Amino acid sequence: MQSFIPVFMEEKICMITGANSGIGKEMAIQLAKRGHHVVMICRNEDRGKKALEEIKNRSGNSKIDLLIADLGNLRTIKPMVDQFLAKYPRLDVLINNAGVFKQKRTTSVDGFEMIFAVAHLGHFYLTILLLESLKKSAPARIINVSSDIHRFFTVHFEDLMFEKKYASQKAYGSAKFANVLFTKDLAKKLAGTGITVNAFHPGHVKTNMTTSNDSRFVRFFTALSGPLYTPVNKAAQTGVYLATSPEVSNISGEYFKKCAIAKSHKMTQDEEYQSKLWNISRDMLNKCGFEIKPDI
Ligand SMILES: NC(=O)c1ccc[n+]([C@@H]2O[C@H](COP(=O)([O-])OP(=O)(O)OC[C@H]3O[C@@H](n4cnc5c(N)ncnc54)[C@H](OP(=O)(O)O)[C@@H]3O)[C@@H](O)[C@H]2O)c1
Repeated sequence: MQSFIPVFMEEKICMITGANSGIGKEMAIQLAKRGHHVVMICRNEDRGKKALEEIKNRSGNSKIDLLIADLGNLRTIKPMVDQFLAKYPRLDVLINNAGVFKQKRTTSVDGFEMIFAVAHLGHFYLTILLLESLKKSAPARIINVSSDIHRFFTVHFEDLMFEKKYASQKAYGSAKFANVLFTKDLAKKLAGTGITVNAFHPGHVKTNMTTSNDSRFVRFFTALSGPLYTPVNKAAQTGVYLATSPEVSNISGEYFKKCAIAKSHKMTQDEEYQSKLWNISRDMLNKCGFEIKPDI
């Protein structure tokens, strides 16, 4: 007779940015259903609280918390991290998911082009602030939500803030490219620490970003491309897989689609390009008065 060996999945503390809607909320539900403790990072308290109740109800897990930070307002990030560090003994998984799409150029509170500010710079700062906690919690995982759109662009270094000429798809593609470039660079920098860093493409998903954004083209494309859609529960699966699966415990610096390693743009491997983004991001933060040391 086969003996029954119960498998208890260790509870992980998982921080997810932009967890009040779309793919972030769905990853929160799926992780909570598996018994993990989810810490939602949202910019709006009311939207955050509403989603928190939904995540609790749909997962049957009450270990869901909400902290407030606006990734487009750098000075809100450290106070939230300090709150987190005071309350939680460790951080096992960080999912950098929040993102925006802007048809017209807007800037963050700190004066950076908004798509880049939220998708890359805010997450760059957040990740660096959490590195000590992640190192102490190792094995730990960092997951960056990128997009396949990065394959059609590169980081727009020649005019990173799109001050000369703004093109929304290009700005979004550049920021999503930055997500993969940062992933590969950080993975190398963290080799041997027990922290893995990976990025993924969730698919083309009907969320606020694609159905209610201010681009007529994106709304039109969204309305037309019904069968091409990835349902949000499927879109979240690669994130949950990267956060929890033992299969990827030693994989770092990769780009995933549908729970498998996929090809990213070949320039994402370029070390000079990676360093350039790192140095520019660090200089931007230092100039705003948020000190980032040269080494991590
Ligand atoms: N949907 C797709 O087809 C698709 C495809 C590829 C990649 N992605 C990526 O998937 C990720 C999630 O997007 P989604 O499709 O789930 O869109 P979504 O439903 O609009 O979710 C975006 C989340 O980011 C949050 N957010 C936006 N700006 C923020 C800020 N300044 N500070 C903190 N949080 C902020 C939003 O909060 P509010 O509710 O307060 O705005 C929301 O919770 C993004 O990184 C996106 O680029 C999406």
